[in-house]
Amino acid sequence: MPAIRPGARGAVISGWGTALPEKIVTNDELAATMDTSDEWIQARTGIKERRIGGTTIGLSVDSGRQALEMAGLEPSRIDALVLSTTTPDWQWGNAAAVQNELDLFCGAFDVNAACSGFVYALVTAHGLVAMGADRVLVIGTDTLSRITDWDDRATAPLFADGSGAVVIESVDGPGQLLGWDLDADGSALPILQADVGGTIKMEGQEVFRRAVRIMVDSAEKSMLHAGVHPEEVKLVVPHQANIRIIQAACDRLGIPIERAAVVIDTTGNTSSASIPLAMADALETGRVQNGDLLLLVGFGGGMTAASCVLRWGGGVE
Ligand code: COA
Repeated sequence: MPAIRPGARGAVISGWGTALPEKIVTNDELAATMDTSDEWIQARTGIKERRIGGTTIGLSVDSGRQALEMAGLEPSRIDALVLSTTTPDWQWGNAAAVQNELDLFCGAFDVNAACSGFVYALVTAHGLVAMGADRVLVIGTDTLSRITDWDDRATAPLFADGSGAVVIESVDGPGQLLGWDLDADGSALPILQADVGGTIKMEGQEVFRRAVRIMVDSAEKSMLHAGVHPEEVKLVVPHQANIRIIQAACDRLGIPIERAAVVIDTTGNTSSASIPLAMADALETGRVQNGDLLLLVGFGGGMTAASCVLRWGGGVE
């Protein structure tokens, strides 16, 4: 992937929001319906409970509205809406439905790069800013519970529902995006797949093995483009698929897991929502200050991978 051209118009995140369904499903509740246990799920995945329910459009409206409010923006000031989801409510027009409900007057389109989708959407939004957009709303939402086989113990404990959103706004000085990487390897599509209208089928161990490799590879490319070394990264915001994947990727990157944002214990794998949910949690618990370097890195079906390095608050001058 190319490096950012010097002088490209940049942006900063000026607001964020999250939405989770009210219904909590614990591991013990799952164990009441299938041959599994809280102990197994926690030990193999790090997940204790997950949220189930809602629609992709409804959750997106909730997180998107919060992000607009935090940014202090009237809806009419948004120039574009990018909605990342791999579980659309409709074949098309999901972003447009969110645009309508939020009273936006702008272009709106869906992006689907599975669990890498939020970073794909965020990088795309920065591209729109580089081409003249001033304010872009980026939402990552998935309702994976609707495509989960609830009789399959190999997948059911993993997947869940949620949404996260950010507003990015153009800035005069250096923007926040220092480096990015978008990657895909379609030869690995069969190991993690869902037919249209079907449920998730997965070769768990193979996905695990490749996930660590492609996360590390993508993260290293973004850091290289950004001119950033792992020890300078204040916070890694990884896709929340499995705590053991996060641990293995951090180990290989040489970044202590204490510097990772982790919410998987309470959210499960929410696909497009997992990175913005983890980032919002870190922001709200005071883990990020202006000038800090963040490394966002995701992987998912396709297989896809995506990462970017952000300097929180933009350039420090
Ligand atoms: N409860 C109890 N036992 C289970 C189980 C469950 N929910 N799911 C599988 N098992 C059993 C298996 O049948 C197997 O039994 P056996 O040894 O008698 O054959 C044993 O546990 C080990 O299964 P295995 O598949 O080797 O476990 P694992 O350590 O690889 O963990 C995953 C399974 C799915 C948690 C793990 O492979 C993983 O997270 N992979 C990546 C998945 C992912 O991230 N997908 C989304 C990408 S965006």
